[in-house]
Formats: sequence, structure tokens, C-alpha cells
Amino acid sequence: MTSAIEFPAGFLWGCATSAYQIEGSPLADGAGPSIWHRFTRTPGLVRDGDSGDLACDHYRRYAGDVKLMQQLGLNAYRFSIAWGRVMPEGRGRVNAAGLDFYERLVDSLLEAGIQPMATLYHWDLPAALDDRGGWLNPDIADWFADYASAVYQRLDGRVKLWATLNEPWVVTDGGYLHGALAPGHKNRFEAPIASHHLMRAHGAAVKAYRAIGKHQVGLVVNIEPKYPASDSTADKAATQRADAYMNRQYLDPALRGHYPPEMKEIFGEAWPDWPAQDFELIQQPLDFIGLNYYTRSVTRHDDKAWPLYASAVRQPQATYSETGWEVFPQGLTDTLNWIRERYGNPPLYITENGSAFYDPPVAPADGLPDPLRVDYLQKHLRATHQARADGCDIRGYFAWSLLDNFEWSLGFSKRFGIIHVDFATQKRTLKSSAKCYAEVIASQGRLL
Ligand code: NOJ
Repeated sequence: MTSAIEFPAGFLWGCATSAYQIEGSPLADGAGPSIWHRFTRTPGLVRDGDSGDLACDHYRRYAGDVKLMQQLGLNAYRFSIAWGRVMPEGRGRVNAAGLDFYERLVDSLLEAGIQPMATLYHWDLPAALDDRGGWLNPDIADWFADYASAVYQRLDGRVKLWATLNEPWVVTDGGYLHGALAPGHKNRFEAPIASHHLMRAHGAAVKAYRAIGKHQVGLVVNIEPKYPASDSTADKAATQRADAYMNRQYLDPALRGHYPPEMKEIFGEAWPDWPAQDFELIQQPLDFIGLNYYTRSVTRHDDKAWPLYASAVRQPQATYSETGWEVFPQGLTDTLNWIRERYGNPPLYITENGSAFYDPPVAPADGLPDPLRVDYLQKHLRATHQARADGCDIRGYFAWSLLDNFEWSLGFSKRFGIIHVDFATQKRTLKSSAKCYAEVIASQGRLL
């Protein structure tokens, strides 16, 4: 049953982006290169040879972009800080000019009445740290906490919402197990180590925050609910493995102090016995959980799908986006309720939700209709409202993304923006989804 829709005063209506995907100018003002700077310079790794060298040129156009946010009526904006702008070598020396950029951005957001949420790590590891092993080096927890502290010191008075990591699962799965994302490793033995150090780094950054910060800090995870394709024991076991690997691998240690038992089954001898004291560091009290939700998976046993032996079954009646993801709004309600039940009703933000559907490279002069994205947005906002009615403590929603941007190894081929970007001219055009979102915000959801 759905109830009449209205979101409470103070609910955060935002959009999300990340540094490497929109900023451009990756080496400006003394910044050090990131692993994505390198990855995009290796032929064949990114579609069409695209890179974040210019992207949305947001580093130079941020003021105009903040005006667009204001025009939409956003009261929140989630962005990420590029570690290599703040510490060009990833550790040690702080580059004040890099922090200056984020200070300018934050000040213009606040002037526009927009509350900033800053993510400290959205995948752009300084290349100098990768040379020392990156997420495989145990020292990275301290490096990350030092970098985070430098940022907190400069911005905590003005940024009241902090996220440590964005989607640690993707960092490990894409970066260390399957190699599709930077740094591009494909190694069963590395993946568990990278995961564990990500979680130690998360814990160390939260601990550092308690010493300096006065506001709120949380962790952002991507959750893709897994539904068994049949009642067979094999399909149900595959669903459990897929769920442990993607959905519980990071939330369980952060909120319950241990990994899911399936991890050992999945990785076998590659899954070490971790020292007990690591979990004291990892399980820090958090102020919120950030949920990135895009799709679900209907899961079956698959002998060929190493290492999970699980794969997704296509749903013939469903709509799929350009990234091949099923549109399944009920999965958002289910996921929010699952977090509420499993992890004790933590405060939640939907830190990303959105869809890639085809839009032309140049927007028509009279506006850009994107009915599929409008439908996706409306249905997921209704699903969010339903979860609130079910008792979830959801405090805000951030659409992915403000702008069409660099979709990692898919380059600029997938457009997730509610604002269209003509990458040849940098012209911004509101899509219908942006106008729809503005109306929803202005009516506190009543227009849904
Ligand atoms: C999640 C990631 O955080 C973001 O960087 C990416 O662009 C979107 N998903 C869409 O794939």
C-alpha cells in the first residue's frame, strides 16, 4: 500500500558527482596524478580512449554549476575530494592550492543555501601510493587518515556531512579482482587484501574524524539486492554468496564487527584469517550509512562464473538501462528495509540513484525530453517514500548525477546526468528529468 506522498521539512534533496568524473584539470595547481590519470593513458582500457582530462571542466566552471543546482532548488550536493589535489604524493606534503579549490566550491554552495556532503575517496588514488602497493599496502590506513585529517581541518566547520569511502566493493571487484577499473589488477589473492585495507582505512578515517570533526561521518556502499531465480538449493546458495560478496562484505565488518562467513567459501585459501584487533578499528560508530542503489539481480547458480559461481538471469518483461541494469524500484524499498532490519535502523542517505539512457550528444534548442529517466526518478522517489513509511530513517536523496560525465571505463558513452553536457562545447541543458526533480523538490514530493 502506498500512502499520500510528502517528505518532511529538512529532507535533503541533492545530486551527486565525483571528482575525476567531472572536474577535468587533473594536474592543475600542483595536483599529483591519480591511478585514473594513468589508467586512461593506457590504450585499450577505456572506451574510445576517453579520459577525465577535461570531463565537465567543473574545476573551472564550478560556479556556474552551483548556479544550476540553485536553479533546480537543490538543498544538498554530494561531491568528492581528489586525494592527489590535497596531497600530490598521497602522503606527507599538503598542497594548499588543492584545498583552496574545495574551499571555494564549499563556500559557493553555502552561499547558495546548498548543504555539502564530501566524499573522501571516490576511486582516484594518488599514483604515487599505487607505486607503493596502493590498497595492498597495510600503511594505507594511516595515509588515508592523514589525508582525511588535513581535509577535516580545513573544511569541517563548513562541511557537516562526510563520507569516507565510496563503494569499496567496486574498488576491490573492479580494481583488484576483475581488472576493469584502475589500477586494473586481476588477482584472487589481492582482492581480499584490498577489501580489508579499505575497511581499515575507513575505520582510521572515522577515528581521525572524532578527534577533529564536530559533525557527521558515514560510509557509502552500493547494494544490489539478490533474489533467487528459483527455489533450488543451488540457486539459493548462489544468491547467498552473491549477497555476502556484494552487500554484506563491507557493512558487516563496519556495523557488526566481522565478515560474512561466505567470504571464506568464496575466496578459499585467498581469504586470510584477519587479526581480531583490526575489527576494533573497522567497527567505528557511524552517524549514517550512504546507500547507492541502481538495480537488483535475480541470481542463479552458474558453474562458469568464477569466483561466485552465480550469475544474473535476464528478466524478459523488464526495462533495462543502457548499462544493462534492470529498472527495479521495489529493490530500493527492499534494500532500505533490509538495512533497517539487519543493521538496527541507522540514519540513511540515498547517496546515489540514477540511470543511463540514450541522449544525443547535442541537445535540441527547445529542451531535452528523457522520459525513461523521468520515469526512473519518479518511481525510485516513490520507493524511497514507501521505505520511509515502513519506518526507515531516510534523511535525504541524491540523484546520480547532476551532469553527464566520465563513466569510468565506459568513458563518455553513458549519460547519467539530469543535466545534459555537450562535451564539445561544455554547454549545459536541463533534461526533462531535471525539471521534474525541481518540481518534486518544490512540492516536497507531493507532485510524485
Ligand atoms: C556508482 C559510482 O559511485 C559512480 O561513480 C558511477 O558513475 C555510478 N555508480 C554509475 O555507474
